[in-house]
Amino acid sequence: MKTTTATLLLLLAGAAQATVAGSKHDLSATGTGIHSPTTPQVCLFCHTPHGGLSLWNRAPSTTAPESIRLYASPSLSAAGSAARLDGKSRSMLCLSCHGEPLANIGGLVLNTLGNDMAVVDPRGTWTTSGVLWDRVAVNHPIGFDYAQALAAKPTRLEPLSGTNVGLLPLFNATAQGSTVTTSMECSTCHTVHDATNSPFLRVDNASNGLCLACHIR
Ligand code: HEC
Ligand code: HEC
Ligand code: HEC
Ligand code: HEC
Repeated sequence: MKTTTATLLLLLAGAAQATVAGSKHDLSATGTGIHSPTTPQVCLFCHTPHGGLSLWNRAPSTTAPESIRLYASPSLSAAGSAARLDGKSRSMLCLSCHGEPLANIGGLVLNTLGNDMAVVDPRGTWTTSGVLWDRVAVNHPIGFDYAQALAAKPTRLEPLSGTNVGLLPLFNATAQGSTVTTSMECSTCHTVHDATNSPFLRVDNASNGLCLACHIR
């Protein structure tokens, strides 16, 4: 069992080690922000070799997904207005930390591999630093079908293929029991493993490049 674990973690490591380490998602003992005083592993807070989706190593968020406030406005399309989260939403992976008290960052880890997963926040700001997703009501909509929104607003949104939204992943949610194959989630805009474009953005948003990948303005 030990060999399997080590081998799988090595295989995984090739994909992301270089970039997660040292980022705000490095919660290991060498992390500089919120981190564990003792746990040497970086990936373990999110992945385990024996997990399910993306080898996920976290218990679900303790917050009822339906209670998480998403952006709402009268001008949204039917798809945008229908944006919601449920227990199977991919974005709930993020919300098992973002939306939880500090103690649950380590506390919701399923397979600890024998490590003490407790974490500390040297600045003591986890609850107030803006990382709690439902703290503000102006969060971008997620958990809806981009293709459906596009069909309703073809002159306002970029087409699915090509060099704009085509560069950002929309997620196939059929494995989660939905019929949507182009679901907009946290990871459409964010890339958890790569802090090159802060804060973990897929596209540098200095000149609103991220927003303009989808919105025609
Ligand atoms: C803070 C949480 C977090 C940490 C830490 C983390 N990952 Fe991930 N990882 C994710 C999420 C979430 C996904 C699902 C893909 C997505 O949503 O972008 C994922 C997906 C993956 C995948 C599947 C391919 C992909 O990109 O979808 C691999 C491989 C991977 N991670 C490797 C690693 C390795 C190796 C480490 C440690 C060096 C690591 N991850 C650390 C959250 C994390
Ligand atoms: C294991 C817990 C955990 C998971 C899971 C997790 N995060 Fe984080 N995330 C953190 C911590 C801790 C920080 C640092 C917060 C701070 O320093 O105030 C952070 C910071 C961030 C930041 C801010 C980075 C910055 O430079 O300010 C973003 C953006 C982010 N996470 C997005 C995501 C997304 C998107 C997902 C899901 C795909 C995710 N996170 C999953 C723990 C997590
Ligand atoms: C439409 C793109 C988009 C989506 C979808 C999105 N984010 Fe973000 N997120 C951003 C941008 C852009 C910023 C930087 C905001 C700024 O600097 O004002 C950001 C900032 C953050 C931060 C840093 C703290 C803060 O509040 O500024 C965290 C944490 C975060 N996002 C988590 C998430 C999580 C969790 C999800 C899904 C539930 C998500 N984001 C969905 C674009 C997005
Ligand atoms: C992956 C594509 C994508 C990205 C990237 C993206 N958006 Fe959106 N955004 C959408 C879609 C789709 C809708 C829903 C449109 C609808 O339903 O009418 C939306 C809705 C909105 C709305 C609500 C409009 C209304 O009618 O109330 C605002 C505001 C918004 N986005 C701003 C932003 C900003 C700012 C950024 C960059 C930080 C951004 N978006 C990045 C796809 C995206």
